Amino acid sequence: MEDIWEIMRARHSVRKYDNRAVEPEKAALLAEEIGRINAESGLSFKLVIDEPEAFKADKPSYGSFSGCRNYVVLAGRKDDDEKVGYYGERLVLFAQKEGLNTCWVALTFEKSKVQPSLGPGEVLFDVLALGYGLTPGTPHRSKSPDKVAEIGESTPEWFKKGVEAALLAPTAINQQKFFFKITDDGRVAAKAFLGPCSKTDLGIVKYHFELGAGRENFEWAE
Ligand SMILES: Cc1cc2nc3c(=O)[nH]c(=O)nc-3n(C[C@H](O)[C@H](O)[C@H](O)COP(=O)(O)O)c2cc1C
Repeated sequence: MEDIWEIMRARHSVRKYDNRAVEPEKAALLAEEIGRINAESGLSFKLVIDEPEAFKADKPSYGSFSGCRNYVVLAGRKDDDEKVGYYGERLVLFAQKEGLNTCWVALTFEKSKVQPSLGPGEVLFDVLALGYGLTPGTPHRSKSPDKVAEIGESTPEWFKKGVEAALLAPTAINQQKFFFKITDDGRVAAKAFLGPCSKTDLGIVKYHFELGAGRENFEWAE
């Protein structure tokens, strides 16, 4: 599964995992990608393998998760919400390419089990549940492109592709509270509306937009 569209279309939030361990070679690949992300972004993502407590594998009724024993702690500095979204989604699609399923989680995990792994000054934003899903998940309901972007007769194809990719992205409670438009000087402006985690969502959908539109075709307005 190499094509980025295939990867974006195959990604769905998975909350029920089977017992299959993540192979050491795969864990190493993830750790390397996390190292690259942290070096590039200044964020503090951390991979945790075989730690059932954060999702209480012994209590499958906690949240709607079961069997999750691996996750990535998505930490950074205060106000890094959008950056966490952008780089976290890069990691989600990297994991998907390696055949692993994921779910962004802001609320339904055991925060007290994760907090001790934070360094001084680090802020915990979300965790990324990770592993082999019992199923690959299902596509989310989606808004139509004209509800999340300014699209007219002269709108270039690359912009439409960017919006299509953004609509495939995960957003908190599937809210899709974002809007893309081309500015008067030909750049792309992306905006988040008020909503839970909507700044993190903005980073996530901007990462998808870049993949769909092609980074060489446009510049961000801000
Ligand atoms: C920032 C963020 C936080 C999320 N937090 C949770 C959560 O606490 N619990 C949960 O079950 N799902 C959570 N989700 C998953 C969303 O519900 C899911 O992405 C959305 O419904 C779209 O479905 P999809 O990911 O399958 O496309 C979160 C997603 C994002 C992007």
